[in-house]
Amino acid sequence: MLAVSGGIAAYKAADLTSKLVQMGAVVEVVLTKSARHFIQPLTFQALTKRPVHTDVFEGWTVDSFGHVTLAREAGVLLVAPATANTIARLATGLADDMLGAVALATEAPLVLAPAMEHHMWQHPATRANLSTLMERGATVVPPEQGRLASGYEGDGRLATTPAILATLRAVLGRLGPLAGRRVVVTAGGTREPLDPVRYIGNRSTGKMGVALAEAARDAGASVTLIAGPTVPDLPAGLDILLIDTARELMAAVEGATADADALIMAAAVADFRAREVSESKIKKGQGESRVTLELERNPDILAGIDRPGLLKVGFAAETESLIENARQKLLAKDLSLIVANDAVATIGSEESTATLIRRGTEPETLPRMAKEELAARIIHEVAGMIAAKNGARHA
Ligand SMILES: Cc1cc2nc3c(=O)[nH]c(=O)nc-3n(C[C@H](O)[C@H](O)[C@H](O)COP(=O)(O)O)c2cc1C
Repeated sequence: MLAVSGGIAAYKAADLTSKLVQMGAVVEVVLTKSARHFIQPLTFQALTKRPVHTDVFEGWTVDSFGHVTLAREAGVLLVAPATANTIARLATGLADDMLGAVALATEAPLVLAPAMEHHMWQHPATRANLSTLMERGATVVPPEQGRLASGYEGDGRLATTPAILATLRAVLGRLGPLAGRRVVVTAGGTREPLDPVRYIGNRSTGKMGVALAEAARDAGASVTLIAGPTVPDLPAGLDILLIDTARELMAAVEGATADADALIMAAAVADFRAREVSESKIKKGQGESRVTLELERNPDILAGIDRPGLLKVGFAAETESLIENARQKLLAKDLSLIVANDAVATIGSEESTATLIRRGTEPETLPRMAKEELAARIIHEVAGMIAAKNGARHA
């Protein structure tokens, strides 16, 4: 359920609605009286193919009970944009319009995306009202810094649509199969410096790792995403650690896995680094047609992490003897699951083919699918393995 209150950012709620509908959500829209000064119900009706709710006295028939029915059917109540006034009214518990009545009558989680002029946002009254709502369990998608409609620069601008959607997914996943679990995911390629301006890198974009982190978040886990410099769009609703080199990645993984249930290593880690990193830019030299770089081995992060109870999932991107090499990695690194895929066909692509290899069972080759879909499959698998492990421990 999306409630739109009367702020200048109300027009952005149309985009949000469209994205939600495209994602498969059934969206019931409520507009406050003030919101109708900014945007018409018809816009939302056309986007959702459903009637838009504007009045607490509408929608009562013999088998539909207005706000009571809406409240019961809501999976989540999102208020975007949430004005200072609406936040105050929700904190007080007023029910003199459709939004207020639904907010009191529903058991669905409340998500607020505030948007307002900078001073209104900073005002102690707004702060206190938000604190009250958060103490009662509401989730706030904080507004962003930027140019506001008032002409001021500051915080108060409605969070981006991806940030709001990510928070919604995380809130909806609270009761998912990974609820209460901590998952660490690594993504992207590492960079090993040669001098202040050059490095050895690889073509990994981090798409698979990001998709896995999002799928784990959506399944209810609290997720730490450790991302290399090649990852362009870092998702919301996760703890993010940024690293450059393999050794930085190792330190981050060691710290983040201290109390984690699972580690999923989807990062493309450099096997070697330069033995010496030049402090100044390496010169071309006079007439030299060859340069020799001496490389030394980086630590094997996945093999080196040994924590009782930590489920380890690896990726094997190979160009030859895929299954055999992956199987060897599974055993050598003491993994619960390894996802083997063709390095050339996978790196940088939106899709992936994969073979899931577990201990003691035949490899399972999956058809080519979008990385998001593959991520959901792997997370489903991980959730099952964590549940089995803990069930076994409790038995
Ligand atoms: C042009 C204009 C823009 C406004 N923008 C905002 C805004 O971004 N955030 C906000 O909290 N209030 C804003 N207001 C004030 C609200 O519209 C006003 O407080 C109203 O009572 C909110 O009602 P509602 O919360 O029931 O929708 C704006 C008012 C006007 C006239």
